[in-house]
This record gives sequence, structure tokens and C-alpha cells, in this order.
Amino acid sequence: MELSLSDIFSDHVGSIEERARQKGITVFYESTAVKKIYADENIINTVLRNLLANALKFTARGGEVTLRAKEREDGMTEISVIDTGVGIHKDVIDKLFILGEKVGTTGTEDEPSTGLGLILCKEFVEKHGGKIWAESQENVGSTFYFTIPKVG
Ligand SMILES: Nc1ncnc2c1ncn2[C@@H]1O[C@H](COP(=O)(O)OP(=O)(O)OP(=O)(O)O)[C@@H](O)[C@H]1O
Ligand SMILES: [Mg+2]
Repeated sequence: MELSLSDIFSDHVGSIEERARQKGITVFYESTAVKKIYADENIINTVLRNLLANALKFTARGGEVTLRAKEREDGMTEISVIDTGVGIHKDVIDKLFILGEKVGTTGTEDEPSTGLGLILCKEFVEKHGGKIWAESQENVGSTFYFTIPKVG
């Protein structure tokens, strides 16, 4: 299905607004040159919902969360969720997407963790022919990236 990325972004920003306000986190979204993506709406929404929920969960009061999109040269759209949160230790980062590795911590205000969100995200993104990965630095923040095919 052809979807408008700016509609998707603004819907998600709208739905996390209240939680972000409660936690004193500022949410930015960079509307970009990327106009349309080709994706199943449920899939992209599930992935974004978990990545944004994680960004809020693992970022302390006063932090920032940014949603960004860009076109890649390989014809994919790359979406990133950037936070200024607690970060992830380098030994853990590769285990995040592997079922059975049991990586899970509670949030900065003790928000619960089942540790399944990213496993689901990986399955969904790959079903779409995309990839998902993360870069992070402890006590600085994390960026989660995923790619999806663009239209045309
Ligand atoms: N943005 C982030 N910053 C820091 N750590 C993160 C971030 N996103 C994920 N993590 C780490 O990876 C773990 C797994 O994330 P995942 O979304 O799979 O599970 P969860 O958020 O703990 O629980 P669930 O999504 O099932 O409610 C988290 O518990 C946390 O330790
Ligand atoms: Mg999660």
C-alpha cells in the first residue's frame, strides 16, 4: 500500500505526545523529502510504535526523541528513531533482535519490559524486505534504524 510518511509521522507524534509531556521529553519530527513509502500500514505502525515507546521508556526527563526519514542510494527509505537516553552497552546491542537472548530492562521511571518488542519489529521489517539495526552509546543515547522499500 502507498502511504504518506508525513501522515504516519504526525499520527505517531500525536499519539505519544501525552506520555512525552508527562515525562518532560521533547519529541521532534523531521518531515523530509521522503513523501511516499510502500508498506503495510499495520507493519510500519507496529514497528514505529515500539521504537518510539522504547525511546520514551529509556530516556530520562528532559531528554529528546527525534523521528527522521531519508532516501538511501539503494532505493530504500531509512527511518530512524533517535533518543538522548540511557544507551545500550555494546555487548548487548547485537543480542537485541535475537529471540532467546532475553535482553530486557525497565525504563528510567520503572516502565515495564517484556523484551519482545524488538524481536517482533525485526520479523515485521524483514517480512517487508527491510533491515533493522541500532547504534548506541551508553549515557549518550541510541538510534534505531529500519529500512523499507520506497514507492516507484
Ligand atoms: N531506545 C533504547 N534505549 C536504551 N535501551 C533500549 C532502547 N530500546 C531497547 N532497549 C533495550 O532493549 C531491550 C529490549 O527492547 P524491546 O522493545 O524488545 O523490549 P521492551 O521494551 O523491554 O519490552 P516490550 O517492548 O516487549 O514492552 C529493552 O528492555 C532495553 O534494555
Ligand atoms: Mg519495547
